[in-house]
Amino acid sequence: MNRCLWYSLTDPVLGQVYDQRVKIEFVIGSGKVGRTYLHVQKDCFFVSPIAWYPQGAKWDLSLGYRPGRHPRFERKATQLCLTCHTDRVVVDEEYPERFNLKSIQGAAISCERCHGPGRDHIAFHDRSPNQVNIAADTIDPIVNPIKLDSERRESICWQCHFSADDRVLRYGRTHADFRPGMTFDEIWVPFVRNDVDAPIPVEPVNHVEQILVSQCYRRSDGRFGCLSCHDAHSLPSPKEKDRFYRAKCLACHIDRGCSEPIELRTQSSESDSCVECHMPPQRLDRLSHTSQTDHRILRKPMPKQGTARKSELAIFHFGDRQLPQIEQDLAWGLYLGKEAESKRNVNQARLAEPKLASALKSVPDDDEIQEVLGGCEALLGQTNRAKDRWRQILERHPNAERVLLRLAVFSTEQNDLTTARNALIQYLQINPWNSDAQARLAAIFAYEGQFEAAIQSATLALEVNPSDPFPHNVLAQAYQGLGKREEAKKHVMWAQRLTPAK
Ligand code: HEC
Ligand code: HEC
Ligand code: HEC
Ligand code: HEC
Ligand code: HEC
Ligand code: HEC
Repeated sequence: MNRCLWYSLTDPVLGQVYDQRVKIEFVIGSGKVGRTYLHVQKDCFFVSPIAWYPQGAKWDLSLGYRPGRHPRFERKATQLCLTCHTDRVVVDEEYPERFNLKSIQGAAISCERCHGPGRDHIAFHDRSPNQVNIAADTIDPIVNPIKLDSERRESICWQCHFSADDRVLRYGRTHADFRPGMTFDEIWVPFVRNDVDAPIPVEPVNHVEQILVSQCYRRSDGRFGCLSCHDAHSLPSPKEKDRFYRAKCLACHIDRGCSEPIELRTQSSESDSCVECHMPPQRLDRLSHTSQTDHRILRKPMPKQGTARKSELAIFHFGDRQLPQIEQDLAWGLYLGKEAESKRNVNQARLAEPKLASALKSVPDDDEIQEVLGGCEALLGQTNRAKDRWRQILERHPNAERVLLRLAVFSTEQNDLTTARNALIQYLQINPWNSDAQARLAAIFAYEGQFEAAIQSATLALEVNPSDPFPHNVLAQAYQGLGKREEAKKHVMWAQRLTPAK
């Protein structure tokens, strides 16, 4: 693929402020709802800020982006994002946030994601009849989802369709570990809000959560799931749609059918289409021109769905099967710790800290626990402890990008500029595609009087994000320091023009 996304800004006073072209390497999404684009820098994937939405036939910001301040081209596609959207992707052993590009087998999802590895299946069929080491009653190792018990069957679809409020990995697992035949909870701990009285809003990638609150699911002892209605290999054509799904509903509702009189039903729905009334399209809260099918299967259509009085969060589990207490504590610790950090919520940090600290006693070398625990400690004012923790991780894994960035940002806030500078330099060697980190480093150089170095870093920051006023401020300061007053004045003006009016 050889296409670019092209961003430019022209200012009435300054003329052309920037003209940025970013090469697109991969497209995500079949394009029914939307399509977004990825570009690659040093084997890391970054998501484009705009996406194509065919239902409204227009370009708009990608999901999760808000106008004004958003990460532009700097948002990384995570391993989970690629696990759901590509067939297979392998993480680089040395650099945890890079991927082995050759390992990407294509953007489409292959048979193996639902049927399991084909190698054993081929070996099974290729064996010669007189091969002695295969018992006569050996069964074909390929997985047929429909023959699995309900938990294993649903888990195949859930691996990609169950994003949950958040899903935390179980201890020692990676997002790439799921194989057909496993249950979802062998790999992930999903956090959900599952109170029926507080229906969750219809949002992208929450079909599972919607199904979980439906009466069909709750009252049919595991017989109901994605495959009750969907054929995994094809979708019915629009013309067949009503009849196709009606037959699926009647598989269970032939006796306990609709209580709305048939005369009324056929008045508003000519073909007595069950889904037309019980699974109508719902507009997505966050994308005004895109709709999704309401999978809550409500008795009466609920036109306004976004009023979610959110119920309490819980770990989803199949039936009565609970995780061991120690793993529940760990999952809660990670969930709350990450929430605490992203919302800078000290109370949540206080709840997470003892859970993480206790989990760490059993596995003292666990990077993720140590990383998040450090984040909580930083929020709770235990500065040196947090930094020591992150340094311990870096001793084991000097390329742990996120940890380097944490150490840098936190040290800047603490005015420990030596630590911040060194961590930023190391971080930017691994990931130069981060304008904020480049600009932070530039500011430290400028503060230290290293003006040439400051100019170099600020220029790199602008290459990544030419719309940010901050590097222009640093440039102004650096040129001032070098006695180049005209240059300095120019950058003061650019910074002013780029700062959004309040
Ligand atoms: C490897 C990840 C993955 C698995 C496994 C998976 N899906 Fe999907 N599914 C997706 C993605 C991603 C999309 C969005 C379309 C796209 O990007 O191609 C999607 C789209 C769909 C759609 C909408 C198709 C359309 O064109 O409108 C249905 C229905 C669906 N999946 C059902 C299922 C069912 C049922 C299962 C289990 C048998 C399943 N999926 C398993 C990732 C997956
Ligand atoms: C938990 C698995 C999962 C993760 C993680 C995930 N997605 Fe998706 N995504 C899906 C599924 C499934 C769909 C299909 C639509 C739906 O369910 O709402 C989808 C839909 C989309 C669509 C619209 C696709 C279409 O065919 O219309 C885009 C674009 C997209 N995702 C991009 C991303 C990007 C970029 C990331 C990472 C930053 C990401 N997604 C993370 C599972 C996931
Ligand atoms: C999204 C998940 C998914 C993907 C991808 C998928 N399948 Fe399936 N496949 C299923 C499910 C679910 C069934 C069982 C359907 C049923 O019987 O109702 C099935 C059934 C089958 C069967 C019938 C098995 C039997 O014993 O009757 C064959 C053959 C098959 N799939 C082949 C393939 C091939 C080949 C590919 C890749 C080109 C593929 N499938 C991709 C989910 C999937
Ligand atoms: C009771 C029937 C039923 C069940 C069960 C069901 N779906 Fe659907 N699903 C539908 C219908 C109907 C559509 C709309 C199809 C169309 O418009 O062509 C749909 C559409 C979708 C789409 C396309 C986007 C949208 O919302 O229109 C996805 C993705 C999807 N389903 C995923 C799932 C997953 C994952 C499960 C299991 C957790 C599931 N569905 C269970 C009936 C069902
Ligand atoms: C696997 C069986 C199964 C399938 C398939 C199924 N349902 Fe249900 N559904 C149930 C059960 C069980 C209940 C609980 C009430 C009962 O026992 O009748 C229920 C309840 C309902 C209710 C009442 C909800 C409420 O809040 O009172 C509606 C409406 C409904 N189903 C519609 C549908 C539609 C429409 C379809 C097809 C798109 C469908 N169902 C497919 C099993 C199923
Ligand atoms: C024209 C819209 C419409 C159509 C078409 C329709 N329903 Fe309903 N259905 C309703 C309404 C409205 C109710 C609630 C009636 C009430 O409680 O007053 C209902 C109630 C139900 C219930 C709950 C019954 C109970 O005793 O609690 C089920 C189950 C159900 N419908 C299934 C179906 C199935 C299956 C189909 C397709 C064969 C279908 N509906 C077609 C509007 C419709």
